[in-house]
Amino acid sequence: MPDLHRIEALPRLGGRSVLVRGWVMTTRSSGKIAFVMLRDGTGYLQVVLSKKDVPDAAWEAFGRLTQETSVEVTGLVRADTRAPGGVELTAADLTILGPSQDFPITPKEHGTAFLFEHRHLWLRSRRQVAIARVRHEVIQAIRDFFYERNFVLVDTPILTGAIGEAAGNLFSTEYFDLGTAYLAQTGQLYVEAAAAAHGKVYCFGPTFRAEKSKTRRHLTEFWMVEPEVAWNDSDDNMKLQEEFVSYVVARSLERKRAELVDLERDTTALERVRPPFPRISYTDAVEKLKALGSDIEWGRDLGGDAETLLAKQYDRPVMVYNYPKAVKAFYMKENPADPRTVLNNDMLAPEGYGEIIGGSQREDDYGRLLTRIREEKLPEEAYSWYLDLRKYGTFVHAGFGLGVERTVAWICGIPHIREAIAFPRTLYKLWP
Ligand code: 4AD
Ligand code: MG
Repeated sequence: MPDLHRIEALPRLGGRSVLVRGWVMTTRSSGKIAFVMLRDGTGYLQVVLSKKDVPDAAWEAFGRLTQETSVEVTGLVRADTRAPGGVELTAADLTILGPSQDFPITPKEHGTAFLFEHRHLWLRSRRQVAIARVRHEVIQAIRDFFYERNFVLVDTPILTGAIGEAAGNLFSTEYFDLGTAYLAQTGQLYVEAAAAAHGKVYCFGPTFRAEKSKTRRHLTEFWMVEPEVAWNDSDDNMKLQEEFVSYVVARSLERKRAELVDLERDTTALERVRPPFPRISYTDAVEKLKALGSDIEWGRDLGGDAETLLAKQYDRPVMVYNYPKAVKAFYMKENPADPRTVLNNDMLAPEGYGEIIGGSQREDDYGRLLTRIREEKLPEEAYSWYLDLRKYGTFVHAGFGLGVERTVAWICGIPHIREAIAFPRTLYKLWP
């Protein structure tokens, strides 16, 4: 029996006899020649069987192949410029390992609800494989970006006391004798503590929001990366963001070209994602939006529609800075030049994908932060350790959070972020 090889390795094995295991996508035959499209997760391979060259049992097995049957094939790797990956396999033998009766997801069109009910099987489709592989690259690029710049990874807790972004959308669970624990909405407050220990840090993990939003941009569980940097102000923070997003997009283009082709992604818009990104103040953005016909008023947060309209005016992501204090989180530093606003920014992706980053310089003044905590009627006791960071050697610092699924949806050009994670959790989805 020849050695087992993955499909991804076959282009280098032309002329060799190999063993391949995988799943059947499609079959066709013309009399004495039969074709099987096979996938093994690492690639796609056309297998050619000729009746006269394979055992009768193999030819008979071909007749029983259905979509997603798992098989074992031996054969000769042959260069063929028309084939995916540049090679095909001339079969010497074929054995069925696991039959597959009536695979629910056929090549015909299915409704989204049906597909999500079968998410555990839908993951095998070519489009879903491509999305998952872009996601994998995005995550690796994120880690490499920070590693190359000497950031220290600090894992922050998922079970927390009453502390986070905003009350309202916390998931809770009973926690022994200590009352209620909440699933983390952010790791930010903890990385602020770690920034004073290491200077440059980030956390990267699942994040939970009990938001009853049904939009194509919201999940109840999503992955967020949150860098936090001592001595960075809001301007430095925006510079880091544009470098970071450009790096992640460039890596996806460089290493996941084939997947983006599978997704029929027009990559010209992605090629333009290079620093510097346009910047506009919230106040100017409101004026601009009004001129474009929006009914936005100064003081209101930008909704999804306003974000889309604004982002459409630019050919790369745009950073909107200094929002009104009233619509943003308590920890953002007041803008000394205009105390109605804070030193924050959002990054809006082009092509209607909306906010992919939220970030800010943090309030480093003990008194002002305490006032904000009281104004927002947050449980003061829960924040006492966070206030300590302003008590013992307070420091200018800034950071941001990038949502992985929104970023992946944008890079892949897919309409809904549900497809950007293997098993999405939404208001209506806890299964599979
Ligand atoms: O703007 P957000 O809420 O910011 C924070 O959580 C800060 N603590 C980050 C920081 O400064 N360290 O969320 C940041 C990003 C958003 O821009 C978006 O990309 C993503 O997280 N996000 C969501 N993604 C999917 N579903 C949701 N419900 C999301 N909420 C936020
Ligand atoms: Mg935000």
